[in-house]
Amino acid sequence: MFAQIPASMTRPKADGAPRIIAVANQKGGVGKTTTAINLATALAACDKRVLIIDIDSQGNASTGLGIDRSARSVTSYDLFVGRAKAGDAAIPTAIPNLSLVASAVDLAGAEIELVDMDRREFRLKDALGGLTGRFDYVLIDCPPALGLTTLNALVAADAVLVPLQCEFYALEGLSHLVRTIERVKRAFNPRLDIQGVVLTMYDKRNNLSDQVAADVRAHFGEKVYRTMIPRNVRVSEAPSFGKPVLLYDMACRGSQAYIHLAGEVLKREGRVPA
Ligand SMILES: Nc1ncnc2c1ncn2[C@@H]1O[C@H](COP(=O)(O)OP(=O)(O)OP(=O)(O)O)[C@@H](O)[C@H]1O
Ligand SMILES: [Mg+2]
Repeated sequence: MFAQIPASMTRPKADGAPRIIAVANQKGGVGKTTTAINLATALAACDKRVLIIDIDSQGNASTGLGIDRSARSVTSYDLFVGRAKAGDAAIPTAIPNLSLVASAVDLAGAEIELVDMDRREFRLKDALGGLTGRFDYVLIDCPPALGLTTLNALVAADAVLVPLQCEFYALEGLSHLVRTIERVKRAFNPRLDIQGVVLTMYDKRNNLSDQVAADVRAHFGEKVYRTMIPRNVRVSEAPSFGKPVLLYDMACRGSQAYIHLAGEVLKREGRVPA
């Protein structure tokens, strides 16, 4: 069903370690969780072994994948406090090849607890050790903030994927995110790069969407994926059924866009030197 994605685009990392991608934007409601869930599902459907780590106390990625609170015994909070490694906290989802480290409400306090911890910027990175050979991709669904939890994700990641909503204020605050990425790169994680910027909730009937898309492309150039995720009611309905939209309605425009996005992501990954 993913015939659009040639096998040559899906080669794994040579050393067997997973590629870690943080899905981040401190702006709320721009499509981070929707992108993490559906990109992960599309990658899993391409035979990639994928792990989503939900580090947002809202737990939307966990709920959106149908993981009930009662099933969340070991969570990403345990990763931050050093009680568990990601490999032990990963639980299978209903989607073949897709696992999840769920979030817990305790994460809301983690920002403050982390301040006094040793290696406070490296807690998540340390917990991600030992995944070699188990997963091809790890996607981290970040909260809408640039605090210590998101900072941990940027320190642990190989790359950042930035969802941007096609709305008037899309670029506002983005320079802060870019500066934060540059700072993390200098201070903690020299390999960090922006994998790409994905425009979400694009509405072709709305001139503003085109204007925003043009501005973002002028600003970020090649970094912006060609695929734009359309505003699509099926995408917004799917989480209430605990399903990625790709499972809820594979034929809808939102699902098709995420399949194309996965193709672009894998193509860019193929260019990354091993
Ligand atoms: N392409 C789309 N079409 C329609 N609705 C969408 C689309 N993408 C996301 N939404 C809806 O927009 C809302 C915000 O999306 P989402 O939760 O993915 O954003 P977020 O950036 O993770 O939010 P937060 O910052 O709160 O974590 C959700 O209700 C979601 O269902
Ligand atoms: Mg979210």
